Amino acid sequence: MYNLLKGKRGIIFGALDENSIAWKTAERAHEEGAQFVLTNAPIAMRMGAINELAKKTNSEIIPADATSLEDLENLISQSVKILGGKLDFVLHSIGMSVNVRKGIHYTSSNYDFTTKGWDVSAVSFHKVMNVLYKQDAMNKWGSIVALTYMAAQRVFPDYNDMADNKAYLESIARSFGYFFGMDKKVRVNTISQSPTPTTAGQGVKGFEGFLAYADKMSPLGNATAQECADYTITLFSDLTKKVTLQNLFHDGGFSNMGVSQSVMDYFMKED
Ligand SMILES: NC(=O)c1ccc[n+]([C@@H]2O[C@H](COP(=O)([O-])OP(=O)(O)OC[C@H]3O[C@@H](n4cnc5c(N)ncnc54)[C@H](O)[C@@H]3O)[C@@H](O)[C@H]2O)c1
Repeated sequence: MYNLLKGKRGIIFGALDENSIAWKTAERAHEEGAQFVLTNAPIAMRMGAINELAKKTNSEIIPADATSLEDLENLISQSVKILGGKLDFVLHSIGMSVNVRKGIHYTSSNYDFTTKGWDVSAVSFHKVMNVLYKQDAMNKWGSIVALTYMAAQRVFPDYNDMADNKAYLESIARSFGYFFGMDKKVRVNTISQSPTPTTAGQGVKGFEGFLAYADKMSPLGNATAQECADYTITLFSDLTKKVTLQNLFHDGGFSNMGVSQSVMDYFMKED
């Protein structure tokens, strides 16, 4: 390991189980010398797996519903206390659509569900940054990262209203990132990750097809959760200090592809 995060403090949202991108990031951040608080929605804690991660990484857990300003205020002030100083990094690794969960087609969205999913998946990022900003909880040259998916730019029909939530999330990164950059010298970016077999990922209809197609289209193949963790660590490190307001594709090249030979071969066989 490289000691890239030696002496750095942070908060990691969204480690549900060992497949979670946040789980892998927590393990890597620990290996790189960081100290951090783990957090997730109180309901997700019931599954208990996060305790194992906390033990492994020597971290404390503070439950917080990322849509509740009150929970976030407690989480952030407590984290600064526990860690003994302001924060250097925050990972927002949160996503949920009630319409997807209930199998409701995009064209007949239930708007209460749409609003809930939007709050959890997108507005929560604004709320997290709002509280970090107001509490002046970030150190200069700190780094805030949220995870997103390319359905924000291109059509993936089964991604449903999560596509709209991700577009909103990416816009928040730019809009809030401006103020965080100007006023606090903190960077804000989103990482647009390949489809990844996690609980959230597998909730998308036809996920296996999604995964296989993306893999065949990408010159480097799909990026794994572990590789996403590695990339996230570089964004938390001092090696990327002037990268901000970006949506960074971490997808093996998928986002710039038109067609690949293996996808061509598949269709030629069909003829
Ligand atoms: N898996 C993929 O294919 C993929 C691809 C690109 C981007 N992403 C994004 O990566 C991020 C992490 O997802 P993952 O794939 O690791 O799946 P995951 O299911 O392991 O993580 C999603 C997390 O969101 C948490 N969450 C849900 N509601 C919450 C709330 N109200 N407050 C706090 N936390 C809440 C869940 O408890 C869970 O830990 C998400 O933003 C997801 O959209 C995933």
